[in-house]
Amino acid sequence: MAGSKLVVVGAGSVGTSLAYAALIRGSASNIALFDVNAPKAEAEALDLAHGSQFAAASATVSGGGDIAVTEGADVVVITAGAKQNPGQSRLDLAGTNVRILEQLMPPLLERAPDAVYVLVTNPCDVLTVAAQRISGLPPERIFSSGTVLDTSRLRWLLARRAGVSVTSVHASMVGEHGDTEFPLWSGATIGPVPIRDWTVDGERIFTPEYLDTTAREVVQAAYKVIAGKGATNYAIGLSGARIVEALLRDDNAVLPVSTVLSGLYGISGVALSLPSVVGRGGVHRVLETPMDGGELAALRHSADTLRNTMDALGV
Ligand code: LAC
Repeated sequence: MAGSKLVVVGAGSVGTSLAYAALIRGSASNIALFDVNAPKAEAEALDLAHGSQFAAASATVSGGGDIAVTEGADVVVITAGAKQNPGQSRLDLAGTNVRILEQLMPPLLERAPDAVYVLVTNPCDVLTVAAQRISGLPPERIFSSGTVLDTSRLRWLLARRAGVSVTSVHASMVGEHGDTEFPLWSGATIGPVPIRDWTVDGERIFTPEYLDTTAREVVQAAYKVIAGKGATNYAIGLSGARIVEALLRDDNAVLPVSTVLSGLYGISGVALSLPSVVGRGGVHRVLETPMDGGELAALRHSADTLRNTMDALGV
């Protein structure tokens, strides 16, 4: 992407993994890491730059603690904030991270007024509503990675069981990026085959019980990784890089990002994930995705859960 500048705010494990993924994948031609911990941001950027010869495409990498590094960004990905400790839910982080956002957004908007903003910091859905309010940006230009990562987890589990490429699994997690997320089984297919009709050795393997277990495994995935290594970073880094590419390459890719809804399914003022068209300039369309009664109820439960957290915080 000629002159496409990605700024990653936060040089922690998520931000640096996202920057690394973007470098390797050639997501942007200019990658800048910003962190209040200037030595950290500078060192992470230097370490990335040292390997740039081996990246998919040539990219300049910079980093530092001066907000000037964010100047003229096309895409700003925000990863700064407190992260989940073992056993902690993402919603538990809301108060602390809303306050960080209130400090971060004004100087960022001054330096990068035309950027598309992508929230990765959790709880990303609540922070998207807060960021949209703070910035006054239109919903299409400020959204979060939402369940893009959870959808990748779901597709990996299904592909592994079905014995097919993960790129042939068409299934999405939607709703909160958190404990109330759920899979859209009604529209899920492997290639052209509805998921429930997929057979191995003539037997339908995706029984209701198997699908329920798979959904629970996706919801619990982050907790499992955090319990083992203290954080998640690689998969969210790759998910973020994919979103950046859709924006900078004008892919018009359908990705389950989280945007502030204004009436879809009767939901307003809450940000949650639904399959959406993502291209240059941000989210072009949130798709009114066919759902059965159970899925609609689960979506509303997700929205209510998020609204309760926002009400408690005054977001
Ligand atoms: C996870 C974090 C990014 O799901 O919320 O791994």
